Amino acid sequence: MNIILFGPPGAGKGTQAEKMISHYNLPHLSTGNIFRENIKNKTELGKKVTLILDAGKLVPDETVVELVTDELKKEKYKSGVIFDGFPRTVKQAEELDTYLQANGENIDTFITLNVPEQELIDRILSRGQGRSDDTPEKIKTRLQVYRDETEPVLNHYKNKDVVKEIDGVGTIEEIFERITSALS
Ligand code: AP5
Ligand code: MG
Repeated sequence: MNIILFGPPGAGKGTQAEKMISHYNLPHLSTGNIFRENIKNKTELGKKVTLILDAGKLVPDETVVELVTDELKKEKYKSGVIFDGFPRTVKQAEELDTYLQANGENIDTFITLNVPEQELIDRILSRGQGRSDDTPEKIKTRLQVYRDETEPVLNHYKNKDVVKEIDGVGTIEEIFERITSALS
């Protein structure tokens, strides 16, 4: 089963993905986590993307798609994957569809978490994990980038009839229950 967890910065993608991993016995693929890991380890990829993440802008599609398609070749993804933070542009979505189709697969469910903007900002500002992009100014940029470049991905998948819209406000447990019932 291939699932996309979608939504703006702070919507709870990472939080819900962590709970879904054990519930569905699927691996989690967060492009943001992979980039941060590479930045921490000072790899070539890390050096290439550090200023982009700091600014709250998007890593070029080509780099992201190459990273994800390489990652998906690993054995652990053979029964499916929970994507978090990918695809983030229509181009990435098209490239993902092409890759999956070539392997006889597709996206089974696209879960989008709806959370009002002020709540997103409050959540990110109280995260306290020291992310360089969790400042008021960077959050503004990230939300703008989301609206301009990422939101159109929702329509791309609406056309494929796989979208489940989930109310992302409530306790973490309540939202998880909404997701599992939407998937059942
Ligand atoms: P990425 O790491 O994907 O960050 P993001 O999309 O900005 O989202 P966040 O991780 O901030 O939020 P989330 O939805 O995971 O929420 P979370 O569960 O943490 O991307 C970072 C950067 O990498 C991008 O800006 C870009 O530069 C680059 N990048 C990554 N992917 C890319 C791609 N495909 N293409 C190009 N560039 C890419 O929750 C947030 C907080 O709220 C947490 O503290 C959590 O504990 C709390 N919380 C969660 N749920 C609740 C709840 N129900 N009630 C109250 N608090 C809650
Ligand atoms: Mg996240």
